[in-house]
Amino acid sequence: MTGVMAEAPAPVYLDFNATTPMAAEVLDAMAPFWQTEFYNPSASYAQAGRARHAVEDARSAMAHLLGSSSETIVFTSGGTESNNWVFWGTWLARPARRRRIIISSIEHPSVMESAKVLQALGAEMVMIPVDSEGVIRVDALDAVLTEETVLVSVMLANNEVGTLQPVAEVSERAHAVGAWMHTDAAQAVGKIAVDFTQLGVDFLTVAGHKLYAPKGIGALYIAPHVKVPPFIAGGGQEHGRRSGTEPVPLIVGLGRAAQLAAAWVAGNGVPSQAALRDHLEAQVLQLNPHARIFGRFAHRLPNTLAFAYPGWAGPSLLAVCPTILAGTGSACHPAGSGSSTLQAMGCSPSMSQGLVRLSLGRETTAEELATVVESFRQGMASSPTNPIPEEGSS
Ligand SMILES: Cc1ncc(COP(=O)(O)O)c(C=O)c1O
Repeated sequence: MTGVMAEAPAPVYLDFNATTPMAAEVLDAMAPFWQTEFYNPSASYAQAGRARHAVEDARSAMAHLLGSSSETIVFTSGGTESNNWVFWGTWLARPARRRRIIISSIEHPSVMESAKVLQALGAEMVMIPVDSEGVIRVDALDAVLTEETVLVSVMLANNEVGTLQPVAEVSERAHAVGAWMHTDAAQAVGKIAVDFTQLGVDFLTVAGHKLYAPKGIGALYIAPHVKVPPFIAGGGQEHGRRSGTEPVPLIVGLGRAAQLAAAWVAGNGVPSQAALRDHLEAQVLQLNPHARIFGRFAHRLPNTLAFAYPGWAGPSLLAVCPTILAGTGSACHPAGSGSSTLQAMGCSPSMSQGLVRLSLGRETTAEELATVVESFRQGMASSPTNPIPEEGSS
C-alpha cells in the first residue's frame, strides 16, 4: 500500500533583519520613474522638474519619519556608505588635536571596519564594552571620553540580538567633550519610532532595504550645524553633498517606504509585533527550557528573537529545519567564528556559534510562527545526536 506523502509546509521567512521585500506600494511609486519619468533631475526642461520634485518629496518623507527637516537628509547607496561617510567626513573635518574615535564592541562591520581604516591613518580607536544583555556600558564611556575625541558611534539597535542602546545618554556625554555623535539606525528605522531630537545625534544612518525599500539606497541624517566634506565628489548633486546622478526610482521608493514606516509606528504595528515575538519566545522556551534567549532583559526591537539551544550550532539547527529561513549571525563574519555580538556579550565561542536569529516582518502571522515552532520540534526530534522529547512524552 502506498501512503500519501504530507505536503512540506512552505518556507517561512524570518530574516527581516537581513533584508525586507519591497512593499507593493513602494514598487508602485517607483514604477513611472524607470521609463516615462526617467529624466535627469538636474536637466532644465519641465519634465526633469518632475523628477526633481519627486526626489525632494522623498527627502521630506524621510525627514518627517525622523522628526527632522529636509535639508538634513542626504541620499546614499545604503547603510554601509552612510557609515563610511561619517567616519571619513568627521576625520577630515576634525580639529588636529582630536584623534580619538569611540565605538561600541557590537557595531556592524561597516562601522567597525571604517574605524579600523582610520586607525591605520593615525586615529586612536577605543571600543566600549557591552554587558551580558548586549547593552553598552555607559560607565565605561566616561573613562575614555576625552577632549581628544572626535567621534562617538553607537548603533541604535543591534542587528544580531536586537538590543536597543542608550544613544541619547551617550550623545549627551559625547557633546559635553565637544565630540560628534553618530548612531547607525539601520535596524531601528521602520521598526520603532526614531526621533533625532530625542536622540540628540549629529549623524544617523538609514538603510533602505531594511524598511521595505529597494536595495542600493539609504540616507544619512546630518545635523544642520555639522559641516563635513562630501564622501563622493563630482557634479554636486544632493545639494553639493553627494555627487552622482540621483537614482530617482530608488529614492522615490525610499520616500514611499518612509511614509509606510511612519504609518506603521504611529499605528498598532510595534506592540502587536512584540506580542507575536513574545509568544514565539515562550514557545521556543517550551520546546527546551534550557534555551538561552539573548538580550531578553534588555529593551529590544519588537521583531527580533535571538536564542541558542544547548548543544546546537545555529547553522546545524537550521539545517534540520529547512522550513525556517533565518539568520545565524555569521553572514558578515568568517565561517565558524560565531556571532561577534555574542562574543562581545561574554558568551563562549561555542555558545556564540549557537545563535539563531528569528526576525519578524510586518506581515508575519501567528500561523507562520506556529509552523516555525513545529519545524524546530520535528527537526530536533529527528536528530539522533540532539534529541528532544516528543510532545506529550515523558
Ligand atoms: C546595523 C547595520 N548597519 C549597517 C548595515 C549595512 O547596510 P547596507 O546593507 O544598506 O549597506 C546593516 C545591514 O546589515 C546593519 O544591520
